[in-house]
Amino acid sequence: MTKLITIENIDSHDGERVSVQGWLYASTRKGKLVFVRLRDGTGIVQGVAYRPEVGDELFELLKRLGQESSLVISGTIRANSRAPGYPGGYEIGIEEVEVLQDAIDYPITPKEHGVDFLMDHRHLWLRSSKQWAVLRVRTTVKRAIIDFLDNNGYLNIDTPIITPSAAEGTSSLFEVDYFDEKAYLAQTGQLYNEADIMAFGKVYCFGPTFRAEKSKTRRHLTEFWMVEPEMAFFDLDDLMDFEEEFVSYIVRTTLEKRRSELELLERDMSLLENVKPPFPRISYDEALDCIAAIREASDDPQLKEELQIEWGDDFGSPHETQLTKQFDKPVFVFGYPTQVKAFYMEPWPGRPEVCKSVDLLAPEGYGEITGGSERMSDPEELISAIRRHDLPLDQYQWYIDLRRYGSVPHSGFGLGLERTVAWICGIDHVRQTSPYPRSLNRMRP
Ligand code: 4AD
Ligand code: MG
Repeated sequence: MTKLITIENIDSHDGERVSVQGWLYASTRKGKLVFVRLRDGTGIVQGVAYRPEVGDELFELLKRLGQESSLVISGTIRANSRAPGYPGGYEIGIEEVEVLQDAIDYPITPKEHGVDFLMDHRHLWLRSSKQWAVLRVRTTVKRAIIDFLDNNGYLNIDTPIITPSAAEGTSSLFEVDYFDEKAYLAQTGQLYNEADIMAFGKVYCFGPTFRAEKSKTRRHLTEFWMVEPEMAFFDLDDLMDFEEEFVSYIVRTTLEKRRSELELLERDMSLLENVKPPFPRISYDEALDCIAAIREASDDPQLKEELQIEWGDDFGSPHETQLTKQFDKPVFVFGYPTQVKAFYMEPWPGRPEVCKSVDLLAPEGYGEITGGSERMSDPEELISAIRRHDLPLDQYQWYIDLRRYGSVPHSGFGLGLERTVAWICGIDHVRQTSPYPRSLNRMRP
């Protein structure tokens, strides 16, 4: 029996005769040679069969096997710096092949397919090297998030998914029947996090969140993962200090651990190498001036139209894109108008039309990757905000309690996993960063 190895560990088996089990990714023929590319989930390796060595029968079999047939290939590993593959650098001189299943007419061929077709075949598309690379990056980003928080004294406390009330506005709620009542899928775990910090100091929740987003943009899913750190005795400046360390760590760790995946995705890594504290911090007012200046200087009528904005409006994607082009790092925009943000944000001292919110915008037009704020700490102010937003006060009594019993300045934020992965991978649409994305027009497969 030959030794069974995985492709990611191929470099420790140079010169050995081994077996690799996997799927036929592609094959090409050149005269008396057949080159196959075998993937095993951990990587892709090139196998080479030379007709005079393997014999006619095996040669003919390799020539005709369908894409995605499942196989066990046995042969000898040899270094070849030019052999395509991940991690690359080695190939297998094929000696034997066992076919587990001969796949016929695999629907995803090397030719170009439309995204809808590929999304309909997401269960198969995951096998393609770029999708594979993105999802491996996603796992590493998740792990980096958890490691950083665990190593910095944050306690992971889970928050409920079935909730009785809204936290991020009532327009994007998914309603579910909860026996005789209405309930909603959680848009955020934040309100519960705020209770948890009064018991544990620094906490985070990390899980799926739901928004019935009617918008069809490159950045919106209806189900996405969010990590939400929340801290007692933290103000807006503390929050930005923490976020820049956190995001820099995530990017640095991914660059260390997933370099070959990022290379496969043809990501320009020099832009990511630059992601180190401090990040620029500008106020909403300054951002508005900056956008006005860009608009003024432009002679593109469409851009002028898109950048039209007045004080009090939220930024759209064209505004964020133009703004972030001015910086080579993620940029904080703080102090948004109260009217465009959720009800729970602390007002700016002396300027109640502005709140102590902060969004972190990623470079290269990837837009908002985190949203957070200092939270309102006064019970009376909170009650008026809940009333102003037309929310049912009785559902928020427990939340108001947190301000009645030992209220402290506190802050937190949420980082969207899919948007962060899209930015790190350099992918233009968040749907490819989720294994089975859900959006306005898609919940299958
Ligand atoms: O800005 P958001 O809505 O903030 C909150 O939910 C706060 N309660 C978080 C907190 O302070 N604890 O969402 C936070 C982040 C966004 O910056 C974005 O990265 C991501 O979550 N996000 C989405 N990602 C994909 N699809 C959507 N529909 C998203 N909505 C928000
Ligand atoms: Mg936001």
